[in-house]
Amino acid sequence: MSVISRMAKAISRQKQWVCSAVAALVLPLIMTGCDSKDESQQPTYVVAMEATFPPYEFYKGGEIAGIDVDILKEIGRRKGVNFKLEDMAFDSIITAVQTGKVDLVVSGLTVTQDRQRMVDFTRPYSGARQVLIAPKNAPIYSKEDLAKLRLGVQHGSSGDVFVTENIREPERFTNGALAVSAMNAGKLDAVVLDNAPAENHVAGSPELTIQPTALVEEEYAMAVRKGNTALLNMLNAALIDLEADGTLKAIIDRHMRENKPENAQVADTAFGRLIDDFKTDFIKNDRWKYLAEGFLVTIEIAVAAALVGIALGFLIAVIRSTADLTGRLKVLDWLCRLYLTVVRGTPVVVQLLIIYFVIFGAVDISKVLVAIVAFGLNSGAYVAEIIRSGIMSVDRGQMEAGRSLGLSYGTTMRSVVLPQALKNVLPALGNEFIVLLKETSICGYIALQDLTKGGDIIRSQTYDAFLPLLGVALIYLTMVVLLSHLLKKFELHLKKNER
Ligand code: ARG
Repeated sequence: MSVISRMAKAISRQKQWVCSAVAALVLPLIMTGCDSKDESQQPTYVVAMEATFPPYEFYKGGEIAGIDVDILKEIGRRKGVNFKLEDMAFDSIITAVQTGKVDLVVSGLTVTQDRQRMVDFTRPYSGARQVLIAPKNAPIYSKEDLAKLRLGVQHGSSGDVFVTENIREPERFTNGALAVSAMNAGKLDAVVLDNAPAENHVAGSPELTIQPTALVEEEYAMAVRKGNTALLNMLNAALIDLEADGTLKAIIDRHMRENKPENAQVADTAFGRLIDDFKTDFIKNDRWKYLAEGFLVTIEIAVAAALVGIALGFLIAVIRSTADLTGRLKVLDWLCRLYLTVVRGTPVVVQLLIIYFVIFGAVDISKVLVAIVAFGLNSGAYVAEIIRSGIMSVDRGQMEAGRSLGLSYGTTMRSVVLPQALKNVLPALGNEFIVLLKETSICGYIALQDLTKGGDIIRSQTYDAFLPLLGVALIYLTMVVLLSHLLKKFELHLKKNER
C-alpha cells in the first residue's frame, strides 16, 4: 500500500474526531466573536483597566471588582448604559483608548500633563499619592538615599515617570504586586506605588511597611479619546451626581475599609508555610480556576493556531517549491518570500500587539481569535520552511519518475513527493508545535487569560511568586511531554506502515 493511501486511511479514521474537535474550537470563537448584543439595547462602552490594583480594580472570585468597578456600575445604572471591562497591560491602556480599541480608561489613572496631551480626562474622582514601600527594618529614606537604592515601579505608571524623572532609573514590573514580590525576594530595596494598593500589599507582607513621607500627591480621573465630548460630558455629569449625594465617598470608604488581602501567614516551620502558601495560592477562593481556565485558553489557541499554521505553511511550501522546481508562480513566490521575511524578522510579541492594536484596532473581536490569527500567521512561516525543506529532501528522481509515468505535476506532488516530504520533517514539525504551545504564554500582553496570565493573577493576589510559577511550569511541562509522546507514537505508526 502506498504511503499516501495509508495516510488517507489514517486520516479518514481520524476525520470524525477532527471534525468535532474543529467544531468545538471554532463554534465558541464565532460566538464570542460576534459579541452577544445586550437585550436591553443600552449603549455599551468598553473600559480598559489593569486589574491588579486593589482596591480600585482587582480579581475577586474570577471577576473584576473594586472602587472603579462600583463607580462604573453606579454610572451605568443612573445613565442607562453598560460598561464592558477589558483587563489589559497598564502600559497599553492609553494606546487602547487613543486607537479606539476601548472607549474609556478607568484604572486608578493619575492625571498628568503628558497624558493630557494624549487623552481627555474627566473631573477627578479620587485623590492619591505615590508612597515608598520598604522593609520594616530599613531606615527612613531621604531623596538622596533613594538615588542609591534599587527601586521598583509599575511599568508606565505615574510612579514610574516620577522616579525616572526625579530620582533614578527604576526597575519596571508589569504590576505593583510583582514589584512587591521582587522586594520580598530581596531583589529590590523599595517600591514606589500608589498609596491604596501599597497599603493592601503591606497588609499582605508582614515584613514590609510604608514610609511616612509621600513622594508626590496625585488625582485619579477617567480618560476618553481626545474629542469624545459626548462621553466625557456624560461621565462628568454622572460623577458630579455621585459626588453630590455622597455615593462616591461611600464607595471609596467601603473599599478602603475592606482593603486587606485575605492571606495572613501564621505557620512557623518551612513546611507549614509551604502548605499555607499552597492553600492561599490554589485552594482559597478557588484560585486554581485561574490555572484551569487559563489552561483551556492556552490549548484552544495553540491547537487552532497550529491548524492555521499547517494550512498556511503547506500552501506556501508548495508554492515556493513549485517556483523553484518549475520556474512558475513567480509573483506568488515573491509574496510568500516577503511574508516569510516579515514574520521571521520580527518578534512574535510585536506581531501580536500590531495585530491586536493596529490591524484589529477598531473592531470588537474576541482576543482568542486575535491570538489564533497572530500565532497561526507566525507559525505558518516556520511550518512553510520546514515542509519546503522536506520537499527539497525528496530525490528529484521521484518527481521525474512520476511525470514519466504520465502523472501531472500536481498529482505527482500530491501523491508522491508530499507524503515522503512530510514523513521526513515530522520531528521538525513536532518541534514547531512545542515551540508554538509555549510561545502562546505571551498572550498576557493583550490581557488574554491564558495559563501564564492565570499564574500572574494568582501572584498578584497572594504576593507569592514561587508556587504559582512552579504550578504553571509543571502544567506546560506536562503538556509538552504528552505532545512529544503523541508525536513519537505517530512517527512510529507511520514507520510501521512503511514495512
Ligand atoms: N496611578 C498610577 C498611574 O496612573 C498607577 C495606576 C495603576 N493602575 C492600575 N489599574 N494598575 O500611573
